[in-house]
Amino acid sequence: MQVHHENPEQTRHELVDGLNAAQATTSPKFLYDALGSRLFEAITELPEYYPTRTEAAILSANATAMAQAIGAVGTLIDLGAGSCAKALRLIPSLRPARYVAVDISVGFLEQALNDVQRQHPSLEVAGVGLDFSSTLALPPDMVRGRPVFFYPGSSIGNFTPVQAEVFLASVQRQASGGGLLIGVDLVKGIEWLEPAYDDALGVTAAFNLNLLRHLNRLIDSDFDPRDWRHVAFFNPEASRIEMHLEARRALVVHWLDGQRRFEAGERLHTENSYKYSVERFAALLQSAGFAHSRCWVDAQGWFAVFWAQA
Ligand code: AVI
Repeated sequence: MQVHHENPEQTRHELVDGLNAAQATTSPKFLYDALGSRLFEAITELPEYYPTRTEAAILSANATAMAQAIGAVGTLIDLGAGSCAKALRLIPSLRPARYVAVDISVGFLEQALNDVQRQHPSLEVAGVGLDFSSTLALPPDMVRGRPVFFYPGSSIGNFTPVQAEVFLASVQRQASGGGLLIGVDLVKGIEWLEPAYDDALGVTAAFNLNLLRHLNRLIDSDFDPRDWRHVAFFNPEASRIEMHLEARRALVVHWLDGQRRFEAGERLHTENSYKYSVERFAALLQSAGFAHSRCWVDAQGWFAVFWAQA
């Protein structure tokens, strides 16, 4: 397992700059400490959270057609591998020689990779602890043979469209000769979108609030999750779900060498989750330099899996 630690000073600066901005903002990557990753896994099992099960159904219903379209796989590079559960479903049909799991949350990844190796003893398996939210730079020697990147779960929706294009272009360059299999959540009625991000059990609320405990460890701050409320809504102009944490009362948050006052009702913006149309995402792949793409969509038209040739 190769782990690329982030510079803690850089992380601190990034967080403090975001907290001091007129609209306080934190990158969604800070939602994923060890507990955050577990809470996200729990979200994927909620009845309201349709993306995971819809994508899984598309992957299993079209496994043969996808394997045919994709062709021989030297290395399968799983971006944001998490529990590796999605790749485990693909491995039998894609039959890669090597599997590289990349994730920001390393503790979680190590355990998951042991399971992959147990189930596929002859597969070459490697793990990389890497934050690829700003640039995707895989360590040299990770990729052997024809590269196929796998970016499921619609995590591309957590980038702005401009960031998404930059990110996809860097995948395209590194996937030369192979390609990218990517899951994309599609625009749909607000009555389906909003409950997926504000579930009845409050698991998504816990996932969002847990960010505050993660921040406390990263910048020695004194956020009290009980002072904050989870807010999630669809912004139709931007075609995105927005997640925020809203102060329940006026308060001051302190950290090592700074502080900020939040008025009652003031928000910390913690995540965007963009929703695309098939046409808009196909155009994004093209702008990022992919030669050709095709996609598979579920019967309700809720989610798409694209194969894009690099
Ligand atoms: C990881 N990502 C695609 C999830 C999403 O749907 O944007 C993260 C998430 N946030 C709240 N629920 C799930």
